[in-house]
Amino acid sequence: MVGITETVLRDGHQSLIATRMRTRDMLPAAERLDAIGYRSLEVWGGATFDVCLRFLGEDPWERLRLLKKAMPRTPLQMLLRGQNLVGYRHYPDDVVRKFVAEAARQGVDIFRVFDALNDSRNMQVALDAVRKAGARAQGTICYTQSPVHTLESFVALGHRLAEAGADELCVKDMGGFMPPGEGAELVRALVREVGLPVVVHTHSASGLSTLTCLAVAEAGAVAVDGALSPFAGGASQPPTETLVAAMHGTPQDPRLDLHALADLASHFATVMDRYRPLLNLRSLQTDPGILTHQIPGGMLSNLLSQLAEQDASDRLKEVLAEVPRVRADLGYPPLVTPTSQIVGIQAVFNVLTGGRYRTVTQEVRDYVRGLYGTPPGPLDPELVRVVTAGNPAISGRPADLLPPEFEKSVREVRALVPAADDAEALSYALFPAVYRAYRSSRDRGLTSDVLATAALGVIGALRAPRASLATRTAPATGGGSGGSPWAHEGRARLQNQRRYLDAATRRTGR
Ligand code: CO
Repeated sequence: MVGITETVLRDGHQSLIATRMRTRDMLPAAERLDAIGYRSLEVWGGATFDVCLRFLGEDPWERLRLLKKAMPRTPLQMLLRGQNLVGYRHYPDDVVRKFVAEAARQGVDIFRVFDALNDSRNMQVALDAVRKAGARAQGTICYTQSPVHTLESFVALGHRLAEAGADELCVKDMGGFMPPGEGAELVRALVREVGLPVVVHTHSASGLSTLTCLAVAEAGAVAVDGALSPFAGGASQPPTETLVAAMHGTPQDPRLDLHALADLASHFATVMDRYRPLLNLRSLQTDPGILTHQIPGGMLSNLLSQLAEQDASDRLKEVLAEVPRVRADLGYPPLVTPTSQIVGIQAVFNVLTGGRYRTVTQEVRDYVRGLYGTPPGPLDPELVRVVTAGNPAISGRPADLLPPEFEKSVREVRALVPAADDAEALSYALFPAVYRAYRSSRDRGLTSDVLATAALGVIGALRAPRASLATRTAPATGGGSGGSPWAHEGRARLQNQRRYLDAATRRTGR
């Protein structure tokens, strides 16, 4: 029997409606979700934390408490970006340990811990904290394809994760291009060599995911991820109902009730109707192009909006050709938050400034200096020479350079909210500016309900009559899947760097 992890409350809506589903749309389904018999429910982490505070006016901790109370039987799962937690930079160890302990205390049972570079040193403190909290630690292997990513290298990472304290392993196919045969071979090798249970996470982008889920289940994976059909397909996971029906009567039968799933699907179909203005048709379409260029959908839409903001949409083809070259120069990082943005923005710069690495972004400088961890393969020596001139690279674990921050965050947040508890101090520690804005709008009576009504109204108005113009002239609202917080941060950074770009563009006379 294969277990199913249901992602409708996290990855499903993160992938299709920019993570905007509200707690009040989740709670009416909670009791029924809890009764299905899922292996786990992914409900927290990834972009949900940031989006709650930044866009929804919700307290992410309160969401977790409410969901735990409403779903006491099924283990709740979260996605944790290793040392980045649910943010976009490395946090010091004391913040990582506090965050994990608090999340476990408030209801997370399974932590899926990954690192964009597959550097186990960026996962070891989080994995250790999960174990200490008595929760289940899922060490993650980000699947990608490159000359340096071999079956042996993935198995070696599996061993390192086991040594770091992982209770089970996750193969994370975030781009949605892992072929069934290769997935099955990888699962068999991990089970055989490492000996831990293996779960598999895919996305439907290329259309392979349902086939891959069946193949890995037959090969011995203990669980696969699905999303209830209204939030499945395209950039999201394969539909839960389809996976259940496909394995019915086989030794892998997940033994979930299709009628009960259909009832839940009709609830989430109604929910999807409410968020329809956020759904970009493109993110639902099958795109086998990813099998050749490996650029995930979210990254592609970011590139498109960055080029549109520079009035350079006609140069997409050049940028798409540049992405794999930058990725190779950087030692073939898997393309996932935050490496997808680091590679994407540099590729845009390389094309628009009329010379490769004429402008090197701060993120690429940090990356080359080892501040994100050890890249999977060797870096381009010329790029290393340019970047590290007078600015030596580090070879240790990046977070070893960071002094503790939690106590300082507590002091600062208490100046703002005298009765702030650990959870609120953590929200502040992770996103100080976002938390301040969240707090002050709360104090002014801008509750999540008020904001929801206003936001959907604005988005509807922008999208309906002249969508293309609206998207171009109002980048801050984000469009469809481009409205992710990371895209938001990426665009903010690009705005800052625009003066360099403008200067360079003038230089090259474009
Ligand atoms: Co995912």
